[in-house]
Amino acid sequence: MRTYYCNEINESLINKDVQVCGWVNKIRDHGGVIFIDLRDIKGLVQIVVNPDDKVLFKLAESLRSEFIISVTGNPRLRPSGSENINIDSGKVEIVSSSIDLLSKAETPPFQFNDEVNEDNRLKYRVHDLKSNKMQNNLITRNKVVKIIRDHLYKSDFLEIETPILTKATPEGARDYLVPSRVNQGQFYALPQSPQLFKQMLMMSGYEKYYQIAKCFRDEDLRADRQPEFTQLDIEMSFSDQDNIIKLIEELFLKIFKDIIGINVELPIKRIKYSEAMDRFGSDRPDMRIPFEIKNISSVVKDCEFKVFSKPASEEGNKVSALCIPSDAKLSRKDIDSYTDIAISKGSQGLAYIKCNDVNDIDNGLQSPIVKFLDSQTIKNILNEVNASNGDIIFFSAGSDNLVNGILGSLRCKIADDKNLIKDEWKFVWVTDFPMFEHDLETKKWKCLHHPFTMPVFGNISDIEAKPKTLLSKSYDLVLNGTELGGGSIRINSTEVQNSVFKVLGLNKEEIDNQFGFFVESMKYGCPPHGGIAFGLDRIMMLLTKSKSIREVIAFPKTQTASCSLTGAPANISKEQISDLGLKHKSNDIKK
Ligand code: AMO
Ligand code: AMP
Repeated sequence: MRTYYCNEINESLINKDVQVCGWVNKIRDHGGVIFIDLRDIKGLVQIVVNPDDKVLFKLAESLRSEFIISVTGNPRLRPSGSENINIDSGKVEIVSSSIDLLSKAETPPFQFNDEVNEDNRLKYRVHDLKSNKMQNNLITRNKVVKIIRDHLYKSDFLEIETPILTKATPEGARDYLVPSRVNQGQFYALPQSPQLFKQMLMMSGYEKYYQIAKCFRDEDLRADRQPEFTQLDIEMSFSDQDNIIKLIEELFLKIFKDIIGINVELPIKRIKYSEAMDRFGSDRPDMRIPFEIKNISSVVKDCEFKVFSKPASEEGNKVSALCIPSDAKLSRKDIDSYTDIAISKGSQGLAYIKCNDVNDIDNGLQSPIVKFLDSQTIKNILNEVNASNGDIIFFSAGSDNLVNGILGSLRCKIADDKNLIKDEWKFVWVTDFPMFEHDLETKKWKCLHHPFTMPVFGNISDIEAKPKTLLSKSYDLVLNGTELGGGSIRINSTEVQNSVFKVLGLNKEEIDNQFGFFVESMKYGCPPHGGIAFGLDRIMMLLTKSKSIREVIAFPKTQTASCSLTGAPANISKEQISDLGLKHKSNDIKK
């Protein structure tokens, strides 16, 4: 049905016989001559239908947008002045000699290149996927996957598939469960990641594994989260953090160079988790924002103002300042609305100093708190945050978590509100995460990464004795404030693994039930190993500058984890329920 794609028709084919096929993008009747813009996956070409051939012309007249046709004809140069420089075939047009109608189409629900609301786009996804934007996104995604596969293949990695119907892998979300018909009352879990399987492949000696892996997590959805998403999942034996980081940096260098022509500056900067929290209030800092948070506890710990001096001298509390440069031009209204944000996050207030003249401590500062501070402390604060005239300094005092939460989010919000984020690509590795954090709700320890991450310890008894202070051999790659991926060096001894499970509150029986197979496998030898996984959808979202990962996934779920196209999730029949040995609480299940 085709000898050329639409975009391949050019001057070299003038007067030759060609055949093209695709969708009627647009059809226009220009006083007796019909012009058809024909579209295929590679581009557009203009077809001309002359009135001399009555039968052909009649057929052309019956064509509508989105009809699918095959056309034979002869390319000719377009008359001067009517070229279209926006398309590859724009200097020529095909004079048609025959047209085959391959499929009719009803009037489409919308013009797919228009701004259409997302509900409609997802419901009519088949039509929506015809848009240039979606086609470019999915074609680019394919290129990125090819670069990844080539890069890893050259470095001796093996792509190995791991099961989808499996046992729970804890990555912090709820599991999607699948009932078993054969073993009634029992359930498979869909993998939150291939974590345990990739580690077991290391035990089996595969040494370098990767997979473009589907993962499933039942969690609250956001613009960068889907219930079903794709990871680039990697694991390597006999490697330390530096080997893994180097491999990934070279891969990102290639992806960014080949796809958007950007040179990623290597080595990518690394900062420790504790420093990231102190300076940016976040473990995924946006390094494009030109101002950061400063811990000023040491400057205010002895001052008279108790709101500051008390937290400044207590373990687990602090006072930090965020100096907003004068170009933000914050108004009184802005200050009030940022104060409301601080209060909504649990603070008593948001102290500030407006620096009209930093050299005039007595009259040059506007602030509700300077009256409580001696001039030396004020000078020290101004000095510490490097304040200039016109700047506004915000202060937050309280628990480390509260202060990080408030100033971390204000930093991003003010930069965004005032357009202070430059259009650039800023990568950063965040390393040395704490191994555990205390969950206030469950009153239990939980892992910041996952329980297979190697803690940093001197003596193995430290793991259970001092979980609070333990760091882990972990690293996340962050780009422009989005966590692209995370990984770690793994535990490769059953003693260490069991100690970690115990800190998490698992008893012997629970360890056996949930992870018995894994610990048992480790007994027969486990090389030192580590790895990382990236959200492929997130990489694609950033590379294509899309607002959500739904723009880089062909058939995504909505914010309520459903598919508007197919109607999934859907009711199942009584027979299916009974086959699975399940009972439904409500009686109104559709047949
Ligand atoms: P983690 O849980 O950090 O690590 O996941 C790795 C990366 O996967 C992406 N991601 C998601 N993308 C879209 N929707 C989601 N719901 C979603 N959840 C996670 C993120 C994230 O950085 N097994 C470990 C990796 C390892 O240690 O090797 C893991 O899964 O980009
Ligand atoms: P107060 O003495 O409570 O009236 O507080 C004096 C100033 O400090 C006010 O501007 C409050 O908004 C601010 N403030 C109070 N508590 C905090 C806090 N925890 N962090 C930052 N500023 C605060």
